[in-house]
Amino acid sequence: MNLPNMQDAKKRTNKEVKTIKAQNIISDKFKNKLFFLKTYGCQMNVHDSEEIRGIVTNLGFRETLNYEEADLIILNTCAIRENAHDKVFGFLGRVKHLKKEKPELIVAVGGCMPQEEGVSHFLKEKYPFVNIVFGTHNIADLGKMILEQTGKQDIEVYSIEGDIYENIHYERDSKYSAWVNIMYGCDKFCTYCIVPFTRGKQRSRKMADIIEEVKDLKNKGYLEVTLLGQNVNAYGKDLEDNYDFATLLEEVAKIGIPRIRFVTSHPWDFTDKMIQVIAKYPNIMPYIHLPLQSGSSNILRLMGRRYTKEEYLTLYNKIKESIPNVSITTDIIVGFPNETEEDFKETLDVVNKCQFDGAYTFIYSPREGTPAALIKDNISLEEKEERLAILNDLINKYSLKANQKHLNKIDKVLITGVSEKGEDKVCGYTEDMKLVNVLNAKNDIGKIIDVEIIEAKSFSLDGKKVINI
Ligand code: 5AD
Ligand code: SF4
Repeated sequence: MNLPNMQDAKKRTNKEVKTIKAQNIISDKFKNKLFFLKTYGCQMNVHDSEEIRGIVTNLGFRETLNYEEADLIILNTCAIRENAHDKVFGFLGRVKHLKKEKPELIVAVGGCMPQEEGVSHFLKEKYPFVNIVFGTHNIADLGKMILEQTGKQDIEVYSIEGDIYENIHYERDSKYSAWVNIMYGCDKFCTYCIVPFTRGKQRSRKMADIIEEVKDLKNKGYLEVTLLGQNVNAYGKDLEDNYDFATLLEEVAKIGIPRIRFVTSHPWDFTDKMIQVIAKYPNIMPYIHLPLQSGSSNILRLMGRRYTKEEYLTLYNKIKESIPNVSITTDIIVGFPNETEEDFKETLDVVNKCQFDGAYTFIYSPREGTPAALIKDNISLEEKEERLAILNDLINKYSLKANQKHLNKIDKVLITGVSEKGEDKVCGYTEDMKLVNVLNAKNDIGKIIDVEIIEAKSFSLDGKKVINI
């Protein structure tokens, strides 16, 4: 058993990262057996789950959405905040009962949690009914681990990042909109963040491999790709060929797929060249997720974010001025150790100045092994919750304002599926990433259609299809 080790991860040089072909084991051993897959966390995990789904369908499994009837249960976990753990352990409690009734059930826990120091050991001690534990660096081993499963516990978690796999067989969630990894890991080491430890150092895929994947998706009829990485605009910094994200984005745009998106951007690496490329190509969607984390330069320094409040605002304004109708969303953490009332007001000030289209807001959660976890957490939970509530009210006010700008206008919407708001509605996203529920457009799933916006709420829009005569 290998436990994650931060020193090991740092020692490795990029030249040692190789590109290798995924094996994609095919077997009919589990023909007609059912698997249940639950994904926690970010888009990276959602996309990893598409790889996991590819691996297990290659072994003959079919997917079920009811875990009680499954022969294989896989939890793809997240480690970003403590409550992500709680959810996994809560679900494992339910699985434990099921396993008593169904001893042949295979239970696998993978993803970010096992990459954390001590977690696989904890699972071994406290959850002996879990058959397989795998990490983010060895998802490719999962097929073999399932095939060789004997009922005993099998823990394989690599402490060092593996090579970059190409030719991965994904079973994607959507036939219209696809995730495309452009890089793995992160080198930023923000002081609160576990990601550089769970996902390892930054490794960029070769530009030619990414281009090939996007071309293939276009040929398969995909209308949208989202280029994925923890810090996409640092793309290429670890490669010898001297590519940068702006160049990659431009090459992807030239392929001519109708919609291109990318997440997540770090303000530090956001270049003028990137802004120019986004503004130049109509198929690069005018939407940027630009995490702020805090509006106080003091806290930003403690967070190791490498920019000040003023630098963030300058970048924000430059993007707004250069890209017509761009929408910008953000991430904000409240209650970082030593965050004073004044610091929090600085955050509110940035929110008032930027008037974000939306934001994910979080209470700071100390993660063992990160530098910030060593700083005394000197703010009470009550105070943190109060700050979060004040922040959320402000964020929601501006989200509503941003959504209201769409009222009575016509937006292009990629319809991706049936809406959660009722069977008679479908839903999709505008170019600037607003969720729209649309009436009477059932036959338009998988198409980009014109929609007139008839109602604006804080988190979504309602619209009706424009019939072009
Ligand atoms: N506590 C709270 N929020 C965190 N994030 C990352 N680490 C932590 C943490 N320890 C938030 C950041 C990041 C988003 C994905 O999760 O805002 O941008
Ligand atoms: Fe975490 Fe910072 Fe990397 Fe984002 S940029 S994944 S917050 S270390």
